[in-house]
Amino acid sequence: MAALNTPLIAPSLLAADFSRAAEEVAAVETAGADWLHLDVMDGHFVPNLSMGPQLIKALRPKSELPFDVHLMIAPVDPYIEAFARAGADHIHLHVEAGPHTHRSLQHVRDHGVKPGVAICPATPPEAVGEVLDLVDMILVMTVNPGFGGQKFLTSQLRKIETLRRMADATGRDIRIGVDGGITAETAPLAVAAGADVLVAGTSVYGQPDYGAAIAALRSGAHSPA
Ligand code: DX5
Ligand code: ZN
Repeated sequence: MAALNTPLIAPSLLAADFSRAAEEVAAVETAGADWLHLDVMDGHFVPNLSMGPQLIKALRPKSELPFDVHLMIAPVDPYIEAFARAGADHIHLHVEAGPHTHRSLQHVRDHGVKPGVAICPATPPEAVGEVLDLVDMILVMTVNPGFGGQKFLTSQLRKIETLRRMADATGRDIRIGVDGGITAETAPLAVAAGADVLVAGTSVYGQPDYGAAIAALRSGAHSPA
């Protein structure tokens, strides 16, 4: 396994109180978050709607955190520029979102943003094999995308292990993020399988003390069950 061991914690704003969005971003920044995860849903690729570039642009000056933008939209190409301009530091797009993932990832890089490829539970790991030279991260969905608060799919652990091997074989530094159902109990499983970024909505924003919640995710990740 590569030397990417301390997992980064990326709270997902989807589970925050949107009426106080800027305060909610500041609160996780103070509480020790590494990145802010922003879930964009189109009601087409996934059966839900969430936020667009306007909200991300409005929040950008309120925080120093890297903005980790997860696009659950199809088509994706017409919107990459808008999210880059809004201040995304990373853009993840789904390998299932269209036939031209390779070109879309190049577009992301061309806009000065770090590209990531996201992969749904039903998609085999080999589906991202031909784009690993283009990405800085693979985002493994450990739930079916579209909603927060779902149960972690342990069936995805083998895929995380396979992707970790595939990523390491490239010789490039590729992070593996896990997204969906991450808790202090499931985080150690994902990290043991090779994940080094933990996206967490409910288990941060759904808790009374964000600092304690983030610390629990980190420390759990260091003491596998
Ligand atoms: C699901 C989103 C996730 C979601 C995770 O489609 O991509 O980022 O916010 O929420 P939890 O952590 O509650 O499963
Ligand atoms: Zn997400």
